[in-house]
Amino acid sequence: MSDVCATNSSSLGRCVCIITGASKGFGRVLAQKVPHLLKPGSVLLLVARSGTLLQELKEELQSSTEEQKLVVRSITADLSTREGVNETVVAARQEAVDEIDHVLLINNAGVLQVFPSRPGLRSTVVNVSSVFAQQALQSWVLYCTAKAPREMMFKVLAQEESNVHVLNYSPGPMDTEMQEDILSVEKPFS
Ligand SMILES: NC(=O)c1ccc[n+]([C@@H]2O[C@H](COP(=O)([O-])OP(=O)(O)OC[C@H]3O[C@@H](n4cnc5c(N)ncnc54)[C@H](OP(=O)(O)O)[C@@H]3O)[C@@H](O)[C@H]2O)c1
Repeated sequence: MSDVCATNSSSLGRCVCIITGASKGFGRVLAQKVPHLLKPGSVLLLVARSGTLLQELKEELQSSTEEQKLVVRSITADLSTREGVNETVVAARQEAVDEIDHVLLINNAGVLQVFPSRPGLRSTVVNVSSVFAQQALQSWVLYCTAKAPREMMFKVLAQEESNVHVLNYSPGPMDTEMQEDILSVEKPFS
């Protein structure tokens, strides 16, 4: 990721970038790396439930991207609820779409579809998926059965919306809180 960011500075254009699950783990790392790809005046929306962690991240990013004039906003919302999704969509739509080149949505936790439309506006969605969308994992039935249809949903979106670039991305094992949870599950028959 750091190499990609180093070689493609500003390549995403002037962007509204929404990262769900930005408070911890992979989403937090993405939030720290993505600003290097954005042009000045871009907006970064960070979404998760932990308001304090988001606020800390927002302050960190504001000071590390000062020269870039990046607008960073945090949205404390539970994306497993309708209210949380609505709140995030409303916040995203308040951004000045007329002045941006690109809407980039990284669905790292939860699923959002917030694409405004206008000629010339680029739209990209990255769905952070998992090998367990394809492969069963003992004791993780809810995770596997959530990831599989989500991946298919984005494949359908890619078919339906020819103007939206869609990527299902499976990052492989990462040393995060989620990985700790996976490793702490006792195998019932071992
Ligand atoms: N770790 C791995 O080995 C691995 C491997 C393959 C794929 N993945 C995928 O990568 C993505 C990130 O995983 P991770 O390992 O970084 O997990 P993590 O460390 O547990 O972080 C998950 C993030 O999602 C947020 N989140 C969880 N539920 C939420 C909700 N209902 N509403 C809003 N935000 C919510 C969490 O913040 P709050 O608690 O503050 O809400 C946190 O910021 C996931 O889609 C996961 O399936 C992970």
